[in-house]
Amino acid sequence: MTQPHEFPDDFKGKVAIITGASSGIGLAVADAIANYGSHTVFISRSGAEAIVSVLNANGKSALSIPCDVSDEAQVKSAIATVFQKYGQIDILINNAAINQIAKIEDISLEDWNRVMATNLTSQFLCCKHVVPIMKQQRSGKIINVSSIAGNFRSKISGIHYVASKAGVIGFTRQLAYELAPFQINVNAICPSQTYTPMLAATLPPEAEQKLIDSIPLGRIASMQEQVNVILFLASQLSSYMTGAIVDVNGGQF
Ligand SMILES: NC(=O)c1ccc[n+]([C@@H]2O[C@H](COP(=O)([O-])OP(=O)(O)OC[C@H]3O[C@@H](n4cnc5c(N)ncnc54)[C@H](O)[C@@H]3O)[C@@H](O)[C@H]2O)c1
Repeated sequence: MTQPHEFPDDFKGKVAIITGASSGIGLAVADAIANYGSHTVFISRSGAEAIVSVLNANGKSALSIPCDVSDEAQVKSAIATVFQKYGQIDILINNAAINQIAKIEDISLEDWNRVMATNLTSQFLCCKHVVPIMKQQRSGKIINVSSIAGNFRSKISGIHYVASKAGVIGFTRQLAYELAPFQINVNAICPSQTYTPMLAATLPPEAEQKLIDSIPLGRIASMQEQVNVILFLASQLSSYMTGAIVDVNGGQF
C-alpha cells in the first residue's frame, strides 16, 4: 500500500525559481510555493521586493533577483547566486513572457526578436544554466508556461507571440526526452485567457463577453486555476509525467 500523499509537504525545504514573478500567474505561483515552505526565488525585470519582504516578515524564505531573462549574462549570474546561497535548485518555472497585438505586416523584426527572446530564448537560457545542477542532483522539476496560442492559435495575440509559444512546446518535449535519464521532469502548461495584468492589457473590454461566450466552461480562468496545475506539475504527484503539454483552457479547441 502506498502512503497518502501530503501535497504541500512536497515544497518544504526545496529551492524554487520562478521567472516573471512580479506580476500575474508568476507572482501567484511563487507566493504559493513560498507559503508551502520552499526557498523561493522571484525573478523579474524590476524585482519583487514588496512581496518578498512580506513573505520574509512572515517567516517564509523568499529572495528577489532583478534579471532580464533574455540576457544570458544576467541569467547565468542569477542562477549562480541562487546556487551559491542554497546549494541546490529543485524547481524551475519558466513563466516570464510579453505579448503584443499586431498584424504580421505591422510587426518589425525588432518586435519579433524581442518577443522570441523574452518568451522562448529565455526558457532555453534558464534551463541551460539550471540543468547542470539538476543533473548533478539527479532530480528536478521544470515547468514551462506556453499558451493555448502555442498549442492551437490565438484570438488576440500577434503571430510572433503564437510562434514563441509553439516553440515552447517543441522545446519542452525535446528537453524532457534529453533529461529523463536524470529523473528530471519537464512539462508545459497551455493556459487560455486568464485574469492577469497581461490579459487586461490585451483584451479590449468590448471583446470580453464575446470571449466568455466562446469558452465551453463559460468563463475566463482565474489565476488560481492556472497556479493549481503548475503546483501539481512541480510536486511529486506528477512524478511519472514528463514531456506533457497540459491544456488549462476551459475546454477550448
Ligand atoms: N494571462 C493570460 O491570459 C495568459 C494566457 C495564456 C498564457 N499566458 C502565459 O502565462 C504567463 C504569465 O502571464 P501573465 O498573464 O501572468 O503575465 P504578466 O504580464 O502579468 O506577467 C509577466 C511577467 O513576466 C515578466 N517579464 C517580462 N519580460 C521579462 C524579462 N525580459 N525578464 C524578466 N521578466 C520578464 C514581467 O515583469 C512580469 O513579472 C506568460 O508566459 C503568458 O504568456 C497568459
